[in-house]
Amino acid sequence: MSATIPTFVHHRSRLTEGQQRAWDRLWPVHGRDVADVVAGEYDPVVWFGREAPLVLEIGSGMGESTAALALAAPEHDHLAVEVFEPGLAQLLMRIEDAGLTNLALLRGDAVTLLRERVPAGSLAVVRIFFPDPWPKRRHRKRRLVQPETVALVASRIAPGGTLHLATDWADYATQMRTVCDADPRLEGGVVARPPWRPVTKFEERARIEGRDVHDLLYHLRGDGPPSDLSQ
Ligand SMILES: C[S@@+](CC[C@H](N)C(=O)[O-])C[C@H]1O[C@@H](n2cnc3c(N)ncnc32)[C@H](O)[C@@H]1O
Repeated sequence: MSATIPTFVHHRSRLTEGQQRAWDRLWPVHGRDVADVVAGEYDPVVWFGREAPLVLEIGSGMGESTAALALAAPEHDHLAVEVFEPGLAQLLMRIEDAGLTNLALLRGDAVTLLRERVPAGSLAVVRIFFPDPWPKRRHRKRRLVQPETVALVASRIAPGGTLHLATDWADYATQMRTVCDADPRLEGGVVARPPWRPVTKFEERARIEGRDVHDLLYHLRGDGPPSDLSQ
């Protein structure tokens, strides 16, 4: 993907009063800016105070899946990278409500973070759930899942680690499959919807509007231990 074509449009969305209060209180504890991380420290072992397999979710949205899956896997550390501040604020509240200590939030572009800071072979799991579909043909270049980005993501996954994708757009599912199948480091394909993946509002809307949801699961080839989060 060209560095000049972002996969998102960053509308300056206002936080509600409650979100702003949560932000002021909790962001300094759980959040970091991608720009600061890229310019300085990226050290999840220091952030979490332990060494644990690392899960990265790209585009955590309102954080429903993120918080539930971090709660369900306390033995893993989780990073959520997102540009949408109200969503990050909601996720901060979920962190507080659930008392999570294994989830850190990163505000900014996941592609920049991966390209410039995340070490090769360092992630156990990467999740991309319901990425923006960019349905208009002239916007397709903005889609996150395309050859250059998948090659970047695959390079950051540890041998035996997994890339889990979900979308309710049939042609995007086809694109995901074509792109991932073509990457020599990945093996896998379409899987049944895992029951442990929480239903977010995007999936709920797809159901109401009669669109099927497609899950795709790929493993990084190699001899590393398979991730036990990949079912
Ligand atoms: C359609 S939403 C899905 C949110 C969530 N995964 C879910 O299933 O509910 C896609 C999200 O990805 C975020 N996003 C898109 N490109 C991104 C990027 N390069 N880095 C970080 N977040 C990104 C958008 O801001 C948006 O919140």
